Amino acid sequence: MKLTLSVIKADIGGYVGHSESHPEILNLARKSLEKAKSSGLLIDFHVTKCGDDLQLIMTHQHGENDKKIHKLAWDTFISGTELARKLKLYGAGQDLLSDAFSGNVKGMGPGVAEMEIEERKSEPVIIFMADKTSAGAWNMPLYKMFADPFNTIGLVIAPPLHNGFSFEVHDVKEHKKITINTPEEIYDLLIFIGAPSRYAVKAVYNRDTGDIASVSSTQRLSLIAGRYVGKDDPVCIVRAQGSFPAVGEILEPFTNPTLVEGWMRGSHHGPLMPVSVEDGTPSRFDGPPRVISIGFQLAQGKLIGPRDMFIDKSFDEARHQANLMANYMRSHGPFEPHRLPLEEMEYTTMPQIMEKISGRFEPLEE
Ligand code: F6R
Ligand code: MG
Ligand code: MG
Repeated sequence: MKLTLSVIKADIGGYVGHSESHPEILNLARKSLEKAKSSGLLIDFHVTKCGDDLQLIMTHQHGENDKKIHKLAWDTFISGTELARKLKLYGAGQDLLSDAFSGNVKGMGPGVAEMEIEERKSEPVIIFMADKTSAGAWNMPLYKMFADPFNTIGLVIAPPLHNGFSFEVHDVKEHKKITINTPEEIYDLLIFIGAPSRYAVKAVYNRDTGDIASVSSTQRLSLIAGRYVGKDDPVCIVRAQGSFPAVGEILEPFTNPTLVEGWMRGSHHGPLMPVSVEDGTPSRFDGPPRVISIGFQLAQGKLIGPRDMFIDKSFDEARHQANLMANYMRSHGPFEPHRLPLEEMEYTTMPQIMEKISGRFEPLEE
């Protein structure tokens, strides 16, 4: 059967500060989606959170970018914002950059990852959700899952994976996209996706079947709004097993916490720490950045699950390493590379300071 899996998320208010979501907001969202399920619009749903981001995971048969599904998400965020205002949660309605819904939440602030698939005989899917980081944080993990044989041995020894995957890469500044084939073009791919603040992997496809393997949210809030408004806090869906990497190959990249942008004031690099849903509560220096992952088996669109994938003890060492990395990065204080380069920072006092003291700059003697 043809089925669409939609993950639509937004930060509509934090509790306390930017560290968590309030349980009443989650309940409101569950009620809203429950109504849509009873009416037949949704087949199934799961509501969760990662830090201060509300995550709506929905299955239906209306395809990608469907107006009714996007309106459901938008209306849920709007009524959640009203409640957030009542509770005086922090940054109520933060990610809703527009007042009026115009048919699609893309470009309006919320993050969107959707895939239409033909549900397989057994359809395991993993959904990754991050807080305190940007679109592009998935670049290295996706590269490892789908193009690195040291991570995914299936690329070498499993026939359905052996012809490789193609990567759809978006230039988030110039609004352009390109598809690059692996393994033969990995050097070309890496020149782009190794610069994750500009190039983000949007989707990955199995080259033999053409089937979609992964899709991510790639919106850059600051580029949409033209000013600092909060972090992108991206999501990513990955299909597992058979002609896709095994669940363990999909989770393996997160055993190596990578440095990502988005920590404190969206202006610092920090380690992406894999944690259980319960531990997705970034509180130290508003971080360090978190990633959670939940797995489902789809059954005629029903979400059988969730299983909390990073609860596993085997990620303890990555968490420990991320904490050590966090100490090390913090020891740089306001210096790069902990602080982002000037042009990437979400907050900056540079223009005011320049204005105040620019008269004191003198030309260098040649
Ligand atoms: C929010 C974030 C936080 C805030 C910080 C300051 O996603 O990353 O680190 O940037 O708490 O927030 P304001 O300026 O709202 O006081
Ligand atoms: Mg927030
Ligand atoms: Mg957030």
